[in-house]
Amino acid sequence: MPGSGTALNMDQLALAKPETPVRSSEIRQNRENYIRAGDRARAGPDPYFVGRESEIAMFLQALELTAANNGNGSAGKDETLLVQGPPGAGKTALLEECAALAAQRPDCAVVRVLPEELGSARGLIEAIDRAVGVPAPTRLGRALHERGWQVGPVGVPPSPARPESMAALMKTHEGAWKDRVILLLVDEAQNIPSNASQARAVISYLHGACRKARILLACCGLGNTQDKLAELGVSRLARERLTTLQPLAVEQAEESLRRVFSTCGVAGAAGERQRWLKTLASLSLGWPQHLRAIAAVALEHLAARRMNVSDGSLDAVAQAAREARERYYDQRLSGVALWRPAYREIAEALRRAEAPHLRLDRIAEIARTHLARWNEPLHTFIANSLRAGVLGAENSRYSIPIPSFADHLLRP
Ligand SMILES: Nc1ncnc2c1ncn2[C@@H]1O[C@H](COP(=O)(O)OP(=O)(O)OP(=O)(O)O)[C@@H](O)[C@H]1O
Ligand SMILES: [Mg+2]
Repeated sequence: MPGSGTALNMDQLALAKPETPVRSSEIRQNRENYIRAGDRARAGPDPYFVGRESEIAMFLQALELTAANNGNGSAGKDETLLVQGPPGAGKTALLEECAALAAQRPDCAVVRVLPEELGSARGLIEAIDRAVGVPAPTRLGRALHERGWQVGPVGVPPSPARPESMAALMKTHEGAWKDRVILLLVDEAQNIPSNASQARAVISYLHGACRKARILLACCGLGNTQDKLAELGVSRLARERLTTLQPLAVEQAEESLRRVFSTCGVAGAAGERQRWLKTLASLSLGWPQHLRAIAAVALEHLAARRMNVSDGSLDAVAQAAREARERYYDQRLSGVALWRPAYREIAEALRRAEAPHLRLDRIAEIARTHLARWNEPLHTFIANSLRAGVLGAENSRYSIPIPSFADHLLRP
């Protein structure tokens, strides 16, 4: 854990999450915002975010190490961080939480880049320049310089007019960024283009070769993102820089719901409210996406009943929550419906194996007949299954990671 004066710690994090209700005039607005926000994380920190302490500690430690880089390159090797997980595990929410913490450091520039922007050194450099606040004339000067024009008074460093490598190109910019710690956030990092001519050079530079600039590359993506980074030259991420998100503990889900109830004005006897919280938290199975959807179902139900749990029907809400879960699974399967028989077999194999994972060769064996029928290669099956959230991957072992999805697949 970081220890310097500028570092954030878990106490500050806790302080940033008040549990007490906000002013009553905001309660209605909170409720409407919560329901409207849906079940995908938005930009910015989420007041209902809970847990993920170890992942946040991992992030803060990596940020500290990046900040401590004194330019001799000694800290360069660990400056890539990856959070993997299936859809709805809370990757974006975690990344946003980390961004908000980093933004509290006065020396930190948070730069959000789309995965495809990592396919071009120039696009990435411009994005960093904008975030760091390099003045436009200098940006123009650099652009001209890189195209071979000789320009004088715009702060262009004396480097080759046509740099031949990514590192050389970046070197002409690193100097202007040196006072800042740059947090480069890449969501959906499984989509970094592997065929773009510069992607490999960009990633290698960010991961290991950057010496002067203090850049932390924080990626999140589906279970095949590590393979994508490996394809791009990140051969092995340090163990303490890679994590796969698991469901929240049910108590953490309950804590998040308690905040929702509190800020959205849910009333009623304390004991009854507690019963609602416990039941809804356990229906979420700790899965962030379910949690969000179930809380919205409850709020909508209660909104028509003076927001009072004593006027509502927990049974009706629980039933609606189960139906929402099933609808969600059907939606996830809609793009991969052809493979449903294969998924069923995988779910059965997982159940029989009494292990939470199957190895790739076993998945391949199960999928083979189904794939032959549709003439699809295994890697397409795997990529589509990860994207749909039916499969999850961790260290080349495959599972059905979203709680109760396997039950759904096994239902007749
Ligand atoms: N730790 C958490 N505490 C409370 N709510 C969370 C937490 N993590 C995520 N959520 C909520 O769960 C929902 C799903 O999270 P998020 O959008 O981050 O998932 P994701 O893994 O990025 O999914 P996708 O792969 O589909 O982009 C969001 O509404 C988010 O606000
Ligand atoms: Mg996301």
